[in-house]
Amino acid sequence: MALADLLLTVLPADALPHYLTHYVPGKTPLSTFPVVSATLASYLVIIFGIQEVMRNRPSQKLNTLFRIHNAFLTLGSGLLLALMVEEVASIWVKSGTYDTMCNETSWTPRLEFYYMINYYFKYIELFDTVFLALKKKHMAFLHVFHHSATALLCFTQLNGKTSVSWVVISLNLLVHVIMCEFPGWIICVIVEWFTDYYYYATAGGAKIWWKKYLTTLQITQFIIDLFIVYFGTYQHFAHSRFPHLPHVANCAGTETAALLGCALLSSYLVLFINFYIQTYQKPAKGKKLFVNGNGHADATGLKQE
Ligand SMILES: *[C@@H]1O[C@H](CO)[C@@H](O)[C@H](O)[C@H]1NC(C)=O
Repeated sequence: MALADLLLTVLPADALPHYLTHYVPGKTPLSTFPVVSATLASYLVIIFGIQEVMRNRPSQKLNTLFRIHNAFLTLGSGLLLALMVEEVASIWVKSGTYDTMCNETSWTPRLEFYYMINYYFKYIELFDTVFLALKKKHMAFLHVFHHSATALLCFTQLNGKTSVSWVVISLNLLVHVIMCEFPGWIICVIVEWFTDYYYYATAGGAKIWWKKYLTTLQITQFIIDLFIVYFGTYQHFAHSRFPHLPHVANCAGTETAALLGCALLSSYLVLFINFYIQTYQKPAKGKKLFVNGNGHADATGLKQE
């Protein structure tokens, strides 16, 4: 039995009102621009407020809460990824690669529901920053920007119904799962055991290596995203505006969503490459990271402890 059907036998998805399982702008929570922008503005105000309040106070530990939060997100992302892969695979078997990415029929009700859950996860991820602020950790501009922009990105794609969304979302979920944000994730524990061992053996080299690897993983993610998203956007514009240009067929979704998607993902690539250079290429900074920050480099919630 498929995983989704199995879950439906235990979870009362049918009992939920229609607007919680389908994206209905104006009725679904966080589905209008004023609400989304007010929420994200409050996020920024709260973060800077906490930083101000914490200025003369001791940092909070919050390890248990932080771990519960991370465990919830990692397990949730893993489950959502499995569900999405299952649904996309069944579309792909029926429609082939191009239609799975670009046909409007690939925006299935089930995928839409998964996209909504993923969207709400992005708001739960905003608490990463709250934790960082309470712990008085250094916060890169990239961290705050990336968190708020990602919620905005998911919002624009839900409104614009871009069929290709699943590529970007599933890659992102995969990265979140690999980043192993809580102790107990088995691969993570093994890798960390080795890097910790190495850390002592080489006086600090390994922790940096591990973080470098995670940033590289994220950069790779954005490069793949951009290939796919630029391809889809090109197909759409060629089909609807420049039909003399060579193209396969339309790629479904609104133009605003496509262009915003291209712009935000491109900015991520630039910012993450910049973060990489700033953090790992400059010997002085790299050293400071190791000495002061307990190897802490928080681009997007790379391991914080
Ligand atoms: C989408 O798929 C249907 C068949 O399921 C097909 O008739 C239609 O041409 C496709 N649309 C595009 C834009 O490829």
